[in-house]
Amino acid sequence: MCQKKLQHLPRNIAIDGPAASGKTTIGTLVANKIGYMCLDTGIMYRAVAFQALREGIDIADEAAVTSLAERIDIDILPASSQDGRQFDVMINGEDRTWDIRTAAVNAVVSEVSAYPGVRKAMTRQQRKIAEKGKIVMIGRDIGTVVLPDAELKIYLDASVEVRAQRRYIEDLSHGKDACLEDVVESLRHRDEIDSGRSVAPLKAAEDAVIINSDNMTVYEVVEYVMELLEKRG
Ligand code: CDP
Repeated sequence: MCQKKLQHLPRNIAIDGPAASGKTTIGTLVANKIGYMCLDTGIMYRAVAFQALREGIDIADEAAVTSLAERIDIDILPASSQDGRQFDVMINGEDRTWDIRTAAVNAVVSEVSAYPGVRKAMTRQQRKIAEKGKIVMIGRDIGTVVLPDAELKIYLDASVEVRAQRRYIEDLSHGKDACLEDVVESLRHRDEIDSGRSVAPLKAAEDAVIINSDNMTVYEVVEYVMELLEKRG
């Protein structure tokens, strides 16, 4: 795509969608093409869930999990090793890049993210990061709550079967001992809680462009987003 046509890029771009819908893959590729930073906000909720488990905090203890979210130190840094990571995720100064992607974290992250106080703490940090603009922000509530003024909002969807298949292959490629049925179950569990929570539920913003990628390759989705940028520019 010709960069000349993209003279008026949106200040920020929001990409939301259910678990494993390809948001990070698409968001990173689009951000690289237009020279924007990309922030996957799922990392932040995963970090809180991981740290809660690590500290032995009862996930059902809302006050304790919220207090953790208010004091946790999360840093996302350029990748320090070539083991498939896109960046280093540092939690309280320690590299937890892969620890936040375990089945144990998957099992509790949606409970943790449903707590209003946890969302408040994370949303505050996300808005601060987006202040400078030129960011592609990925999550569940970016177009609806975190950055409602984002000029381009994408809601990336796909059937649970297709999403599970993609996540299963991704897990295997990272050497995980994955089982397709378990992946389907885990995605359904998270989708249900993420969509049903009272604060900032997963849903498409009214002005979002909905893309169903069931029958689209990564390349096709990226091209489609680039076309949207071109039309709006
Ligand atoms: O990568 P994947 O699609 O599996 O999930 P993720 O984006 O890493 O998000 C993990 C979990 O964090 C989600 O299932 C949500 O419960 C929560 N999350 C959220 O509530 N709001 C966001 N903006 C991003 C993630």
